[in-house]
Amino acid sequence: MYKAKAYSVSSATSPFASTTIARRDLNPQDVQIEILFCGICHSDLHQARNEWSGVMPTVYPCVPGHEIVGRVTKVGSAVTKFKPGDLAGVGCLVDSDGACPECKAGLEQFCPNLVLTYNMPDKHLGGVTYGGYSDSIVVTERFVLRVPPNLNLAGAAPLLCAGITTYSPMRHWGVTKGKKVGVAGLGGLGHMGVKFAHALGAHTVVFTSSPGKKDDAVRLGADEVVISRNADEMAKHAGSFDFILDAVAAPHDINAYINLLRRDGNITMVGAPEQPLPVSVFGLIFRRRSFSGSIIGGIAETQEMLDFCSQHNITSDVEVIPIQKINEAYERLAKSDVKYRFSIDMASLKSE
Ligand SMILES: NC(=O)c1ccc[n+]([C@@H]2O[C@H](COP(=O)([O-])OP(=O)(O)OC[C@H]3O[C@@H](n4cnc5c(N)ncnc54)[C@H](OP(=O)(O)O)[C@@H]3O)[C@@H](O)[C@H]2O)c1
Ligand SMILES: [Zn+2]
Ligand SMILES: [Zn+2]
Repeated sequence: MYKAKAYSVSSATSPFASTTIARRDLNPQDVQIEILFCGICHSDLHQARNEWSGVMPTVYPCVPGHEIVGRVTKVGSAVTKFKPGDLAGVGCLVDSDGACPECKAGLEQFCPNLVLTYNMPDKHLGGVTYGGYSDSIVVTERFVLRVPPNLNLAGAAPLLCAGITTYSPMRHWGVTKGKKVGVAGLGGLGHMGVKFAHALGAHTVVFTSSPGKKDDAVRLGADEVVISRNADEMAKHAGSFDFILDAVAAPHDINAYINLLRRDGNITMVGAPEQPLPVSVFGLIFRRRSFSGSIIGGIAETQEMLDFCSQHNITSDVEVIPIQKINEAYERLAKSDVKYRFSIDMASLKSE
């Protein structure tokens, strides 16, 4: 066991503060990573503030962070894919049983025994797992990703959650050239969704509640932009979408989007507002539309996404901050005031 520097919250209402946490000594399969950048996902905010208390109550102190890129510092004796000095990435998953049908299908995100990067029982050290707002992490090799060297590291960090969360459902629902695809909510996830839909060749429409984001949406790859609060603008697209990715982090009218789907169209929720969303069944049955959800992606698909980003030169648009600015960043994230992801430069932790 060794000590790592980190930032944690000690309750749902307390600010982040500097701390030290325990990381395990390396087992044969383990990779130790010096964390260089960690993105701030809205899920980190939901979890830090215990907004998902009904589903995944937060255990305090909590160290969030699951958009991690860094450099390998040490490897266990059985590690074959990484050596010290390599770039490495860690997303939302750090372990699974490896034996269930989901794991065998490469869909570790659905494993009943998965271990998330933070706030899950830590079978090595007891307590709960601690995430990437830290200078170091130890992860079993199976859950460590190769980060392509041509990607900007601060912008690559958010690919580990925002990237795979938007890439995976688009691949699953067949987003390709010739499809009309919507992305609702131009935040950290949404702006990655726009980049992927555009790169996959789809006619891409952004739905935003923020008129000020219109120009950015076009720059990011949108063919059209719709202000979601404007019923007339929404009505023009009725019955026309093959697929809509909903990345909105707050309660909103899901039926307004369902009505925009064509026959057999699908809307997938990746946004995770704490309150249930009322769904009108009539919107679904008349055109055999479907409403579904998706969570991150498996390890193999996460690597595929990183390699896709390398080929298409895709990274997240980030505002890089020192960790000392994290409380301010959370306040701004809660108000959707970030273009489009905060990425923490972990070198700033050295001075703590
Ligand atoms: N399923 C998964 O695997 C997964 C993975 C990561 C995150 N998530 C969840 O996905 C959601 C989005 O995460 P994120 O990191 O992208 O968050 P984010 O950066 O805060 O973006 C959320 C966007 O939602 C829109 N929005 C916010 N409040 C709204 C409101 N009251 N009405 C309408 N629109 C509103 C805003 O877009 P506009 O300004 O364009 O309207 C905002 O930029 C969160 O709930 C997060 O927990 C899920
Ligand atoms: Zn996330
Ligand atoms: Zn499993």
